[in-house]
Amino acid sequence: MTSNFLSALAGKRPEITPVWFMRQAGRSLPEYRKVRAGTSMLESCLIPELAAEITAQPVRRHGVDAAVYFSDITVPLKLSGVGVEIKPGVGPVMEKAYRSAADIQELIAHEPGDASAITAGVKMACAELDVPVLAFAGAPFTLAAYLVEGKPSRDHLAARTLMHSDPESWFALANWCAKISIEFLKAQIEGGARAFQLFDSWAGSLSRGDYVRYCAPSSALILGHNFTVPSIHFGLGTASMLEDFALHTNCVGIDYRTDLSEAIVRLRRAQQVSGSTNPLVVQGNIDPALLACSPEILDPHVDAILAAGQAADAHIVNLGHGVPKDADPDVLTRLVAKVHES
Ligand code: CP3
Repeated sequence: MTSNFLSALAGKRPEITPVWFMRQAGRSLPEYRKVRAGTSMLESCLIPELAAEITAQPVRRHGVDAAVYFSDITVPLKLSGVGVEIKPGVGPVMEKAYRSAADIQELIAHEPGDASAITAGVKMACAELDVPVLAFAGAPFTLAAYLVEGKPSRDHLAARTLMHSDPESWFALANWCAKISIEFLKAQIEGGARAFQLFDSWAGSLSRGDYVRYCAPSSALILGHNFTVPSIHFGLGTASMLEDFALHTNCVGIDYRTDLSEAIVRLRRAQQVSGSTNPLVVQGNIDPALLACSPEILDPHVDAILAAGQAADAHIVNLGHGVPKDADPDVLTRLVAKVHES
């Protein structure tokens, strides 16, 4: 299988620019809501046939160049026996918040658990699709933010307090999160996933110093693990730590708040300083808010991102965060065609 997505990840600019969307599987698609009806989010992730079907839906509809596997960053928590559910419209909610040293000792005693349903689902998706399946996992800080808070939060205050007040417990927690995310990725790669993305969605609530000291080491355990497939490293609101995000990965995901041209200039400079000869590959960063604008507004924005991406060795087009729930699927289909024709 030749894949423009995999060529780009390898640093070779393909003739046709690859495009996929974070959160393309689910959410805005009517065919998703139909097959998911009556099954909870985490339950559906553990039914291989259903997860494979949802993974394939956006590829059939939009013609995207990669199929992100339908699952959730909290699935490895559930597989390890931790009490978690995804409340519609709220997000991941834990049975309890893990805050004290004793809570964390209790948590990290959980073993990763059986991920064979994930491997089976990825296998089914791979058998159907002629584009690569992309595995993913949550970065330790983003997972730990849910575990320590017990629920979604705006500024992740309790997690940030813990890393300073009890670094020993914090590092034990972050390393355990890395361990379960590694097992989750292994299960997907064993099923045939050809690349993976590490999501650090909440890293933007950290100072660069705190990210580097308390979170980068456990993320590096995942990115630096000897997986056989390339990686993409994405964080939201991470402009202050872009150079740190570029370590140990093949491709940096740029969020919508960061200027793509500026990001490429900075990443090039960091490569020159370190003497790196790796290709510079970026992913991003269409502002999801503009999907609801008229083509007269959206199209020039996309053109500008395509032009900016030329300064990298290769560019994978994506949004600068996930597809909004109420996005019009036809806008995404048109966007894929536009990127492919560019
Ligand atoms: O299409 C894809 O990208 C693949 C599947 C995927 C889901 N979650 C499915 C999902 C992926 C890659 C994720 C990752 C994820 N999950 C992240 C990182 C990416 C990001 O968006 O920043 C985070 C932070 C989570 C945790 C999570 N799960 C949240 C915040 C929510 C939203 C809650 C809501 O309803 O608004 C979920 C639920 C979730 N994960 C849904 C889907 C399709 C919605 C569930 C539904 O449709 O009922």
